[in-house]
Amino acid sequence: MNETATLTLNNKAYPLSVIVGTESEKAVDIRNLRNDTGYVTYDEGFGNTGSCQSAVTFIDGEAGILRYRGYPIEQLAEHSSFIETAYLIINGELPTSPQRKRFSQLLTENSPIHSSMEHLFEGFPSDAHPMAILSAMLNSLGSYYPHLATNDHQRDLETYEATSAVIISKVRTIAAYSYRASRGLPYIHPRRDLPYCENFLHMMFSTPYEPYIALPEVAQALNLFLLLHADHEQNCSTSTVRMVASSGANLFASTAAGVCALWGPLHGGANMAVIEMLKSIHAEGDDGTKFIEQAKLGKADKRLMGFGHRVYKHYDPRAKIIKESFYSALASLGIKDDPLLNIAMRLEEAALRDEYFLARKLYPNVDFYSGLIMRAIGIPENMFTVMFAIGRMPGWIANWKEVAANPKGRIYRPRQIYVGANLRDYVPPHRRKPG
Ligand code: ACO
Repeated sequence: MNETATLTLNNKAYPLSVIVGTESEKAVDIRNLRNDTGYVTYDEGFGNTGSCQSAVTFIDGEAGILRYRGYPIEQLAEHSSFIETAYLIINGELPTSPQRKRFSQLLTENSPIHSSMEHLFEGFPSDAHPMAILSAMLNSLGSYYPHLATNDHQRDLETYEATSAVIISKVRTIAAYSYRASRGLPYIHPRRDLPYCENFLHMMFSTPYEPYIALPEVAQALNLFLLLHADHEQNCSTSTVRMVASSGANLFASTAAGVCALWGPLHGGANMAVIEMLKSIHAEGDDGTKFIEQAKLGKADKRLMGFGHRVYKHYDPRAKIIKESFYSALASLGIKDDPLLNIAMRLEEAALRDEYFLARKLYPNVDFYSGLIMRAIGIPENMFTVMFAIGRMPGWIANWKEVAANPKGRIYRPRQIYVGANLRDYVPPHRRKPG
């Protein structure tokens, strides 16, 4: 028998059906609640709200499980690459050899950007944040491909394969160019012979007179970083992408909005915030002990960055994987004694023993180590969140498609509980009193 729920309001019972997901997750279906009862639900921060049905990523935060399209993150991290995983997320299945080849070809063909776009970078002030540049450029990119950005979901879906390749490939070029622009360095064009991560590192660090050859361990660490960030179900930026997509907006505009949502320090900005926190602890001569005590006071500006997660109430599985690969990358790079790393390890050890963190189920999240990994491979700090955005692109693209392809899709439009002033009359300026 199908499970149902009953809501009683003013002594009247309303039966509500229950939706069960493929991993037995259950949700009370309230889609007709307002029509039937006049009430809405209140769930600030959406911690108890399923905003959609999605077939991309499954997370069990209590058990520390993360799967893309059914495949455990641990298996993908061990056997796959970022590009193969991107294909999986975007298209739903792992590619066959010809499909993989075609996808790589599309990425190679699409890696350069239009030369007039290079001039757009010059319009930004030299100290512009690369996330601001990335978001603006992604949206601008759509205007170079009007046939891929029609804002007619049917037509945009017909060109989905081409558009996703354009975005996955060019986001890396735009990211590297935004870094070069911010340093006043000449742009380095992509090379046809280099794989995805090596090509990105080449555009970041080569000079016109000396090519940058990435160590295999460095390219591998970057590959893993991107793969681990490729999707994470209905987080703030992905929900933003879906929200924007629900209005009919094209893939360029929707992913540009995702970049903006990712920028904040409570989301993608956390990897940079971790390094800033470690640096300030180091500068104050603290070994982490004082900082932990301050973090326990619960003040928002003294949080232990890289700790805690809305969904994981256990060790973030990505943090486990990235931590292991971090140590092997450090060994190959010959980095032995990094004071920030020492502080990070002490903080982690102390927090994992501390009653405050244990009681609130605050464990390291992926950002605790990803900032350190970026730093070790030479990525500048203000590019950390940009790296996260490159990694998250497949997830945003796949989520955009789910919205665009949903025949019953409606524009996202939450309700609110109004708590402002009641009806009052307009006051002319001379009769207004300082509030
Ligand atoms: N340090 C100290 N205390 C914390 C931390 C932290 N990092 N995170 C949460 N808490 C405390 C809160 O003060 C609160 O305590 P209280 O119950 O005594 O009031 C309790 O733990 C619950 O915290 P919430 O803010 O309600 O948790 P929420 O699920 O809303 O927030 C978040 C999750 C934003 C990730 C939070 O843990 C945080 O700010 N962490 C640091 C920033 C960070 O690492 N973000 C990256 C997230 S992962 C990602 O985007 C890839």
